[in-house]
Amino acid sequence: MKQDDATLQFDENGNLRHLLSLKGIDATLLTDLLDAAEGYLTTPGALPARSQSLAGRTIGNLFFEPSTRTRASFDLAGRRLGADVLNLDVNTSSRKKGESILDTIYTLEAMQVDIMVVRDASDGVPAYIARNVKDHVSVLNAGESDISHPTQGLLDLLTIRQHNPDFKNLVVAIVGDIQHSRVAMSASEALQTMGVGELRLISPPALAPDSSRFPGTRIADNLKDGLKDADVVMALRIQRERIGNLDGVPGIDEYFANFGVSHESMKYAKPDAIVMHPGPMNRGIEIEGSLADGPSSVVTKQVTNGVAVRMAVLDRIGKIMSAR
Ligand code: CP
Repeated sequence: MKQDDATLQFDENGNLRHLLSLKGIDATLLTDLLDAAEGYLTTPGALPARSQSLAGRTIGNLFFEPSTRTRASFDLAGRRLGADVLNLDVNTSSRKKGESILDTIYTLEAMQVDIMVVRDASDGVPAYIARNVKDHVSVLNAGESDISHPTQGLLDLLTIRQHNPDFKNLVVAIVGDIQHSRVAMSASEALQTMGVGELRLISPPALAPDSSRFPGTRIADNLKDGLKDADVVMALRIQRERIGNLDGVPGIDEYFANFGVSHESMKYAKPDAIVMHPGPMNRGIEIEGSLADGPSSVVTKQVTNGVAVRMAVLDRIGKIMSAR
């Protein structure tokens, strides 16, 4: 029987060897990673935090789907920890000549790449690679289909904790295309592990999730109910690249009027509620531009936290690698 991702990511001593999913990562380890990430944050205008903890290591960024934030932040995180970072340009790589993903991985292993950071549109690719790499190599999931985006989940958790660390008394509302969102999945896993008070998922019926994938959450189809007294509101874009047929999905104006996170709809939430978005944003569709740029928005803080969280994960994986 195949190990599931949650157990595959730990070594025989229970240490984190790969990061494939936030499923199976307990509250202690989540907290340790967030605390470590906090240590990499510096004041605005100051030089970024640096160490040499990954000196001599090589990180391969293998993004088989587009990315700005995740790819750039893994690149910066690795360099700021002293590693060599290889960004494979998939569009000009030999994958285009028919080379398999495993042959690509074996080629990079032969060049002594130790940490493979992988984004892919298909289910199960990071775990498939993790099952096939050499014992000294680690795999980090940088976004997998609609299944998992664990470092995004960690940076979202850190951003929420900075607003209010009392997870048990927080109402978090995620609004948008929940059905196709790996961001919602990883956020849900992390928040539930931390014992969040209430997690609400709000979307039009055509983009509603299968409730069995999100146990313990409340699913709503309107903003008035979904945002009522929320402490945290996270807007998600419509994942057009994962939707075969847009039938039933409201047009832009109707979508924004009914599901847009806006100054108007935020009146339902608590007065001090924060507004989050993982990016990339489609202003005027799932979020009002001036709200995204306003004082309640923590969108750029999420991006800053993304580098710190990826440094924390890479540092931990590197230390476990060195101790092997
Ligand atoms: N949030 C996120 O994954 O953004 P990118 O697709 O730009 O990496």
